[in-house]
Amino acid sequence: MLRYNNHMHDFFSKRSEAGEAAPNVLALIREQFSGEQRPLKDLSQSNPTKVGLSHAPELFSLKNPENAVYTPEPKGLFHSRAALSEHLAREQRKISPENIFLCASTSEGYAWLFKLLCDAGDIVLIPKPGYPLFEHLAALEHVRTMAYPLEYAHSSGWHIEVAEMESMLASEYGGRIKALIVINPNNPTGSYIRKGERSAILRLCERYGMALIADEVFFDFPLDDAAERESFIGEERVLTFVLDGLSKRLGMPQMKLGWIAVSGPPQEALRAKKRLELIADTFLSAGTPIMNALPSLFAQESAFLQELLTRIRENYLIYRTILEQQGSPHRVLACQGGWTALIESPAFFEEEKIAGLLLQQKGISAQPGFFFDMERGVHFAFSLIIPQEWATSWCREYKEFFDALQTQ
Ligand SMILES: Cc1ncc(COP(=O)(O)O)c(C=O)c1O
Repeated sequence: MLRYNNHMHDFFSKRSEAGEAAPNVLALIREQFSGEQRPLKDLSQSNPTKVGLSHAPELFSLKNPENAVYTPEPKGLFHSRAALSEHLAREQRKISPENIFLCASTSEGYAWLFKLLCDAGDIVLIPKPGYPLFEHLAALEHVRTMAYPLEYAHSSGWHIEVAEMESMLASEYGGRIKALIVINPNNPTGSYIRKGERSAILRLCERYGMALIADEVFFDFPLDDAAERESFIGEERVLTFVLDGLSKRLGMPQMKLGWIAVSGPPQEALRAKKRLELIADTFLSAGTPIMNALPSLFAQESAFLQELLTRIRENYLIYRTILEQQGSPHRVLACQGGWTALIESPAFFEEEKIAGLLLQQKGISAQPGFFFDMERGVHFAFSLIIPQEWATSWCREYKEFFDALQTQ
């Protein structure tokens, strides 16, 4: 029988160690609030099921007799993929059902793509500022991340530093970089990939043999109808995987349905699909009821999008009106789309301390910039999807909080 020395042996993998990391100060204060049942004003609330949307899509019934039948198709049920393909074609995004893989969420889509493209120790390039989940998604697949910077210029917005990206590819790490992740538009910066950036990115993918992963979960939420935006769906120059799902475009993260749209040079796309099929077949993650419901859910999409778009656009203006009065020390950063506005505020203290005081004094929770790897200044991510009344009153309280700090 094997005997383990407690000091030498650990049951667990290195990749799961973040699960035991100590909660940060802000999480501890929030826990205290919930223990005392004190209401929290969550200015960063991005859960679409918790913001009182009246056009919440009607839920489907499990009673549909088709749900009693299990047809294990690796890519997901054909009729659901066909409905998705048809739906996307109406938005000028052309992709055949053959090139679509249904999965449980875009997060799972990332995990599948990392399995497809990377061996242990390989690298994916991620945007900075960017979505914090990447670190975990990558670490759980033994994949490393390197961040390429986005820089802000007022008021034109965020730009990808393509030269920095290229110098990473040309460095000693270049040989291990397998994929470039772009978020179109990015979370939390709200910046779509510009035309010039797009051609530079495609050139780098070709030159350095990198696959492109484009996350388009926020694509359908432009702040302005005239926003410059172009989807990567169907891109043929390089091996491309576009991720999207129901979490944002229908506000239904609880239904767990995402997808990957594959395109690229024919030989590479074909090989990618064969391998992805093996991965998908191993998990068969997409649930039958939600796949069967997909065509009817799309019928409800436009009412949902309309209500949310109105809210997003009004909230952005509300934040600007309250925080950008003459002489105000705050600034609402330029943003072209998505569910988040970044607010730059005066640096009386460091971000974490300000966030803690804001919570304790006003009961306002707001995600600080360091959550998204922002290194300079004091920033908070404000949700654009909360009801306009919450946005107005909580943003006013945020302003008063800073006014009081200023006079101390
Ligand atoms: C950029 C981005 N991608 C993906 C996701 C996750 O989506 P899903 O619920 O499909 O995993 C989020 C969630 O906030 C996100 O911000």
